Amino acid sequence: MKTVMLKIDSDNIEQSKINQACEILKSGGLVAFPTETVYGLGGNALEPQAAGRIYAAKGRPSDNPLIVHIANEAMLEELVEEISEKAKLLSNHFWPGPLTMIFRKKRIIPNETTGGMDTVGIRMPSHPVALALIEQSGVAVAAPSANASGKPSPTRAKHVLEDLDGRIDMILDGDDAQIGLESTIVDTTCEPPVLLRPGFVTREMLEKVIGPVDVDPAVYEKVENGVKPKAPGMKYRHYAPKAELTLFRGDMEKVTRHINKKIEEDICQGRTPGVFVSQETRKQYEKGVVLCMGTRSDEETIAHCMYDVLREFDRLNVDVIYGEAFEQDNLGQAIMNRLIKAAGYKIVDIG
Ligand code: TXA
Ligand code: MG
Repeated sequence: MKTVMLKIDSDNIEQSKINQACEILKSGGLVAFPTETVYGLGGNALEPQAAGRIYAAKGRPSDNPLIVHIANEAMLEELVEEISEKAKLLSNHFWPGPLTMIFRKKRIIPNETTGGMDTVGIRMPSHPVALALIEQSGVAVAAPSANASGKPSPTRAKHVLEDLDGRIDMILDGDDAQIGLESTIVDTTCEPPVLLRPGFVTREMLEKVIGPVDVDPAVYEKVENGVKPKAPGMKYRHYAPKAELTLFRGDMEKVTRHINKKIEEDICQGRTPGVFVSQETRKQYEKGVVLCMGTRSDEETIAHCMYDVLREFDRLNVDVIYGEAFEQDNLGQAIMNRLIKAAGYKIVDIG
């Protein structure tokens, strides 16, 4: 299959390009499109075969449900059984935007889309290209992140091309994803609601609107074999670069000294080590492939660059990767959730 790459200007969306993409969706094909979080791989959410194509293109296990994207509140009512008062408050506050809510699904949504679950994750994105595509195709759009399963999510159209060229019909090449991390997921079918995946919308922001929110243990801890976490995606190794990644946490001076020692050892043994650092410590590293994620004083810069940096290590063919851990508050919750999973839970405390 030939993958068509179409450049699209978010500030001045050309109708003819949206029309082409809509035609593909309506005829059961797949279109990758920009959202404010990461690029999504879209197909018609009500069409079992489209879901099947999405799983095949990504190489994704079919028990891992897809998020369904909508463009207005009316679409929500067609898709879900019950909208709790808290879900209404959250949608008023955070939609359109980087929040996915879990609802009990109506039968109109096929089991293929939800990986066999009787609930469905719904999100109304804020990116103008995403909204135009959903609104004008007239279909709810199932869209996981548009990466090959297990790889870091795509924050640029070129990341999508790297992973899915020849496997999907079209890529709408918009701007780089503004946030750079997947949406926050909150289960609104239980009381209190449960945070299943942290994101740009933090637990504190949710709690300001609806009161207490529990956090699913799978957010930071490894799920035991045989246990099915509430968000099935949480059990897979995720967001991972090719080389093995280890995180180091603790006093920054000790952490940088420790990582530098590891770098020396690797170089002596003929390996190429990579390390991701923050602007604050950049000057402490002289050897190895050193990539800067952003500044600790503005975590949004780190979220924005993180996946691109992890992919860059793949391109540079490093043999091992070391990373400085970040604070686990505010947006740091989401950053560390992704990094801990990318590292396969290898996190070393430097005392
Ligand atoms: O920001 C995002 O959410 C992006 C953009 C494209 O919207 N999408 C995204 O989708 O990250 P994906 O498929 O890569 O991640 C979806 C996560 C998975 O961990 C999945 O298990 C969980 O959402 N999920 C989806 N439906 C669910 C459900 N009914 N119950 C529990 N978890 C669900
Ligand atoms: Mg994903």
